[in-house]
Amino acid sequence: MKHILVTGGAGFIGSAFVRMMTERYPDYRIVVYDKLTYAGNVDNLLSVHDEPNYHFERGDIAAREAVARVLRDYQIDTIVNFAAESHVDRSILDADAFLHTNAIGVYILLDEGRKHGIGRFLQVSTDEVYGSVPSGFSVESDPLEPRNPYSAAKAGGELMVRAYRETYGLDVVITRGSNTYGPYQYPEKLMPLFITEALDDRALPVYGDGKQIRDWLYVDDHVSGIDTVLHHGAPGEAYNIAGEDLRHNIEVVRALLHELGKPESLIQHVPDREGHDLRYAMNSDKARALGWERRYTLDKGLAETVRWYVANAWWWRKIKTGEYLEYYQRQYAARLAASDDAAV
Ligand code: NAD
Ligand code: DAU
Repeated sequence: MKHILVTGGAGFIGSAFVRMMTERYPDYRIVVYDKLTYAGNVDNLLSVHDEPNYHFERGDIAAREAVARVLRDYQIDTIVNFAAESHVDRSILDADAFLHTNAIGVYILLDEGRKHGIGRFLQVSTDEVYGSVPSGFSVESDPLEPRNPYSAAKAGGELMVRAYRETYGLDVVITRGSNTYGPYQYPEKLMPLFITEALDDRALPVYGDGKQIRDWLYVDDHVSGIDTVLHHGAPGEAYNIAGEDLRHNIEVVRALLHELGKPESLIQHVPDREGHDLRYAMNSDKARALGWERRYTLDKGLAETVRWYVANAWWWRKIKTGEYLEYYQRQYAARLAASDDAAV
């Protein structure tokens, strides 16, 4: 029996991992430890609430004593760390919380994990640590060249993970996922923002010309990749988990509108994200060699995702109030006021 601490388990990908793991491994103990920031949401875990092998503790991964207590109380032997500030645009507005969680928090988790004698530490990282990739596909041995405060903080966390392997011999593995989408994603990221805004017939703010390229990975494929690496990854290794479905943003936006039956006139080109990474692309042969397979194409996953947001307005309407509206105003008011022509 494993006792797994899932930090950040109330967020988008972490909660999908928890839903999968409680079902796949009824004999494991799954303990979610989450600060419940604006992005953490207990509604994401409603379906596992009554599972006997699931537990929830609220707390910060950078709070040393609280982390030590949870590790001890639940006899944790494995940590899977999803906890992060995850939105690039917010990191451009203010990066304090990004350094706190994505770098310092990772260090505290590693340090307390080591002292407690954990078996394995899995760090959930991102393709953004490779920086913008003009051509070809990143492999795990490529240098880390992050270009925005979010990805720089994530790369800092990764380097500390490697340091704990080299210095203390801790059993660590790293996954680097590509742009993930699906149910329960906080509506600040491209897909859930645009689906929910389009449902209300509101303008969709496409940054610049929309020709940036992302590699889209359905959330169930991402978490099954993390499970594969958790169980079969070699100590000290990193593994790319890619959707291998590269598209220009504007193509994705058009596909969403088509799926929703909404007009393309909702698209509004706005001034670009500062320092915008133009392209991410990874090779995931190494994860595939462990037995992982991607099951969703973007076409299939996108249709599934649109269906979910249409059917679950109760989930996202609750979020689109208060802090969310303040953020929306800060991020988009001036951009949307700027003319289409000035943006491209
Ligand atoms: P999310 O923003 O939806 O969730 C983050 C979760 O972490 C929230 O529940 C939040 O409350 C929690 N959290 C934040 N700070 C914390 C702290 N100090 N202590 C404890 N909990 C804290 O993020 P997500 O999209 O689910 O991403 C999860 C992980 O996957 C992140 O590490 C992210 O970098 C990585 N990732 C995301 C994507 C993507 O496309 N979303 C792709 C690749 C990798
Ligand atoms: O690549 C993995 C990363 O994917 C993760 O590590 C991050 O946590 C996750 O947020 C995501 O980062 P991106 O910046 O790529 O995702 P986002 O949904 O913010 O944007 C996707 C693309 O769409 C990007 O090129 C910016 C563009 N975009 C985004 C928003 C929110 C717009 O054009 N308009 C928008 O309003």
